[in-house]
Amino acid sequence: MTEELRYDGRVVIVTGAGGGLGRQHALMFGARGARVVVNDLGGGQTGGGGSSAAADKVVEEIRAAGGEAVANHDSVTDGARVVATALDAFGTVDVVVNNAGILRDVSFHKMTDQDWELLQDIHLNGTCAVTRAAWPVLREKGYGRIVMTTSAAGIYGNFGQANYAAAKLGIVGLANALAEEGRAKNIHVNTIAPIAASRMTETVFPKELLDRLRPEAISPLVGWLAHEACAETKGLFEVGAGYIAKLRWERSHGHRFGGTTDFTPDDVARHWAGITDFTDAEHPTTMNESLTAVQRTA
Ligand code: NAI
Repeated sequence: MTEELRYDGRVVIVTGAGGGLGRQHALMFGARGARVVVNDLGGGQTGGGGSSAAADKVVEEIRAAGGEAVANHDSVTDGARVVATALDAFGTVDVVVNNAGILRDVSFHKMTDQDWELLQDIHLNGTCAVTRAAWPVLREKGYGRIVMTTSAAGIYGNFGQANYAAAKLGIVGLANALAEEGRAKNIHVNTIAPIAASRMTETVFPKELLDRLRPEAISPLVGWLAHEACAETKGLFEVGAGYIAKLRWERSHGHRFGGTTDFTPDDVARHWAGITDFTDAEHPTTMNESLTAVQRTA
């Protein structure tokens, strides 16, 4: 057994922590010595309404267990206000867990502008807003841990979730770029794609599966990624039901045409099997490694 990982002296913001996965993350950090900002506007699953009760209740739970926490009831789209709560209450921020989210599932041909915009706003813009407000503090102190929350719906695509999938994969792009920008300042940025029972999934999965998908099964990965001892950055992980795995990009070895311009759609068609063959596949992780492929001559 290793020693318990602790967050004493660390200030952790968990967005959307009034329920579901975020609540579990907040309770875990609170129980392990962190000072926690429990953000949640307490709205409905599709983004309507608002109540301070959800976040307040989690703060009470953390305090009742001997931990330290404050509530913030702003939308993540007001990221500066979320981070201001951390600065006002605890003087700094060390960890941001971007978890808040809603769903508005609808097939693309029926999707309204509002269905699209609201999802981009809360998931992608909200994640950016909170992270951007915390960023100068993390840079200044030369330390930060950021955990983003994406979804298999974004990674793999899913019927009826174009708005959600686009926003969720946008978050992966944001995380990848921030991992590079944060590297020299000891700011690590990782992304999880959870799968767990919550109000978000209770109508999606069958009961037998929901019983296995405990929301508290996500927090151990978040805890590790948020810890100072964790060197991982720019990672993407699937997590749920006691399972954790890392994802990466895979690129086929590809086909190099003789010249750089003298080939036609017919040549592409002729070589399609080779272009899409994953024998000898590569796993680029940076822009530079991406460029090596086009610089190759054979
Ligand atoms: P949930 O609906 O139980 O919790 C989301 C929380 O975010 C709610 O408490 C809600 O009030 C809060 N929230 C919504 N909009 C907000 C805003 N603008 N500002 C602040 N708080 C806001 O859902 P769940 O399942 O706990 O989801 C957590 C995260 O995990 C979400 O980002 C979701 O997209 C993601 N996720 C969950 C999966 C699952 O299987 N449960 C699958 C893939 C991704």
